[in-house]
Amino acid sequence: MGYVEVPRHRLYVKAATSDWVTGQRPGEMYIAEHLLKTGKHSVTAIARPSSTSKLSKGVHVVRVDYSGDEDAALVDALRGHEVLIITISVAARNDTISKFVRAAAKAGVPYVLPNWFGHDATNDTLCNDNLLCHNRDSIGAEIESLVICSYLLLVCKFWYGFSLGGGLDRYGFDFKKRSFVLFDDDNVAINTSTWPQCGRAIANLLSLKELPDHETDGSPTLLQFRNGSIYMSSFRLSQHDMFESVKRVTGTTDPDWTITHESAEQRWADGQAALQQGNMKAFPKLLYSRMFFPNGDGDYQSNPGLHNDLLGLTVEELDESTAIGVPMGENGEVAQSH
Ligand SMILES: NC(=O)c1ccc[n+]([C@@H]2O[C@H](COP(=O)([O-])OP(=O)(O)OC[C@H]3O[C@@H](n4cnc5c(N)ncnc54)[C@H](OP(=O)(O)O)[C@@H]3O)[C@@H](O)[C@H]2O)c1
Repeated sequence: MGYVEVPRHRLYVKAATSDWVTGQRPGEMYIAEHLLKTGKHSVTAIARPSSTSKLSKGVHVVRVDYSGDEDAALVDALRGHEVLIITISVAARNDTISKFVRAAAKAGVPYVLPNWFGHDATNDTLCNDNLLCHNRDSIGAEIESLVICSYLLLVCKFWYGFSLGGGLDRYGFDFKKRSFVLFDDDNVAINTSTWPQCGRAIANLLSLKELPDHETDGSPTLLQFRNGSIYMSSFRLSQHDMFESVKRVTGTTDPDWTITHESAEQRWADGQAALQQGNMKAFPKLLYSRMFFPNGDGDYQSNPGLHNDLLGLTVEELDESTAIGVPMGENGEVAQSH
């Protein structure tokens, strides 16, 4: 069997302009910057006409109104590109991802990252308990049915700085009040990833050759991830590990903190009840507390394992990453609703 090597030296599109894609934090690089830094890719951002998002230098911007049924402008913006990375707000209309995916198929874009940046998509119970199965299954089925495109799911779990600084309902810290909620015995380890590590993972993934050179070539290819998951992580941490790092970074000790204990399972049930009553702000509580159940669902490093080495990801320093999350919490930079 012969293979045709498709040159993938340029042209990536991302729809929408999340902070973590084209972040403006000094000294940090996110997805767009990491893609550009390889010298192999160019990046186009699709922004709404009303967009006020700041974009990284070198990113080409196309403004498209994708609110209606007409998709010609979207298809035009996508034509000639090889990957569509959708990083769109959860506030966008439910059919928006589907609209992007259908436009990508019309434009002949072969790979799509369909706004899935977190959970282990192969863990049905976890996805079901976190109300993510419907999205996962519908978008996966749609992409497969369109045949032209394949999906790539980034399993990075919760973003570390964002979650550390994201309030009591995320990793349990309130930096303004110096209070900390410990879930159960604080020793359940979960995987968590920084924005720069997500950027490196995506850039290195998309820089892999697409196909093997010959039948016995076992080196990594993009093809091996087709319609599947990429497992990456910065750290495998318990709340105890996070708290120890926070104390080192802030120069505090236990007596400086108000510490309370709660059951992760009870928090998850409370979050679910609140959501059922229409309180969408309870979603982070449901998501995060479920990850700290002691059954190991939040730890995909132990099983099935990580692609960090395959992707050439660097080992990061925990306290440096903690030092980024703490001010995010102190300054209230993270939205409290998901
Ligand atoms: N792993 C984690 O811990 C974690 C945490 C949060 C989010 N996520 C995931 O990351 C992805 C992106 O989320 P995000 O929080 O980065 O998104 P975001 O910053 O809230 O929004 C990203 C962009 O979406 C565009 N957009 C389109 N329709 C919009 C609407 N109706 N309202 C607001 N913005 C709209 C905007 O771009 P323009 O204005 O430029 O057009 C906006 O800049 C989602 O898949 C989300 O689930 C993961």
